[in-house]
Amino acid sequence: MLKAAILLTGTVVFSVFASPAPMPGGVNFPGTAIPLARRSSLTGPDGVFKQDEAKAATINTINKHLQNQMNFQKNTGGGVEIRSPVPLPSDVEERLRRREEKRQSEVLTDEQSNREWAGKISVGTPKKGTAKQNFLVNFDTGSADLWIPSESLSCASLGCLKKSRYHPASSSTSSAKPYIFSIEYADGSTASGPVYSDTVTVAGVTATNQYFAAMTTLSPTFFDEPIDGIMGMGLRQISGLQQDPFFINAKSEGAIAVGQFSFYLAPTGSELYIGGTDNTKYTGAIEFNSINTTSGYWQPATNGQAKVGSTTVLTGLQTIIDSGSTLMGCPPALVQQIYAQVPGAKVFDADEGLYSFPCASPPQLSFNWGGKDWTVSAANLNLGLTKAKSTDCVSALAGVDFGFGSNVCILGDAFLRNLYSVFDLDQQAVGFAALA
Ligand SMILES: *[C@@H]1O[C@H](CO)[C@@H](O)[C@H](O)[C@H]1NC(C)=O
Repeated sequence: MLKAAILLTGTVVFSVFASPAPMPGGVNFPGTAIPLARRSSLTGPDGVFKQDEAKAATINTINKHLQNQMNFQKNTGGGVEIRSPVPLPSDVEERLRRREEKRQSEVLTDEQSNREWAGKISVGTPKKGTAKQNFLVNFDTGSADLWIPSESLSCASLGCLKKSRYHPASSSTSSAKPYIFSIEYADGSTASGPVYSDTVTVAGVTATNQYFAAMTTLSPTFFDEPIDGIMGMGLRQISGLQQDPFFINAKSEGAIAVGQFSFYLAPTGSELYIGGTDNTKYTGAIEFNSINTTSGYWQPATNGQAKVGSTTVLTGLQTIIDSGSTLMGCPPALVQQIYAQVPGAKVFDADEGLYSFPCASPPQLSFNWGGKDWTVSAANLNLGLTKAKSTDCVSALAGVDFGFGSNVCILGDAFLRNLYSVFDLDQQAVGFAALA
């Protein structure tokens, strides 16, 4: 049976995706917005933390970054020593699988367990008599490849049959490449497919000759995901295809005037804005921090700091901004220092590096890069009750060893939901602004 897949999270339902919104009034630059599906929390309807789902999500994040490190090494000849992927414990896997079977037999109303920020893209130039090929993808700043299912994806489940598939023969601009792209899974199996280039459009922004993989095999667990594939929004050094990711390609082809994309991640109205910023979604100035231009990640070059209240607890942090991760993770020894500052904090799950805090007095956790303190709201820090009727809540900052070293943190969704984030290719910088 398949162990943890690199690129998958929980399961879900998602609702309708509108077509790209018309340009809102007051945008800074002539970019366009693409609406994103709501991402829910890891909290169940009963208010209790979904431990198995969180475990799976964390393992997926770890393994995704291991894959990135392998890509980085292949692309640059540099990098760290790479350890083996982490398997999903079989009991967790079994419980998740059973829950999924149950869910599939229910009417899919509003499970809200989606932990991805997904939006629609289209691939190819339809030949006469063929339809536009649309795909729902997760926009992931923590990886750098685009992959979608192939028309010859081997299928054994309903979820698989529901995926959109790429039909190269239906596109007049499709070009097959003599490569196979693969993702390695924790159990040693792989998901893979042939490489193509074709025209790719996101929110009206088109890149031609965009490389991507059309997957002919995928993890069975992925079939329960609502998304068809992943669009990596990271930088080329971590690309397994060894090609420019969509956004960089679009910029270098002149499809966008301003080399920025921005995320607004909220309970409603979430969007990815391509080609600038949407100033209806933030207030005040954007604080930009230059990125480390060699790492391939959206990673400020300036070291970050973490505070609890007004106390600076951690300094010298390297921080990777990853829209494809749900939680915030730093090495276990550092996270322990954070919770030592939080009255009533306890270890909740030692294996997963999860802690709890008293629900009635959440810590004020913030990160800064020498400028403003960017605070994680109590709502975004709280993943739910440790158990029914508990007065302790599970925290979204976990102690995780990503294999990057002793000072590297991954800041995912739990962080990004607190601010407006701007990924700036022109300035090679990451920007944060206060939410409108
Ligand atoms: C930038 O990233 C590279 C690759 O991950 C790393 O080796 C280097 O230490 C980083 N530089 C700084 C200043 O953090």
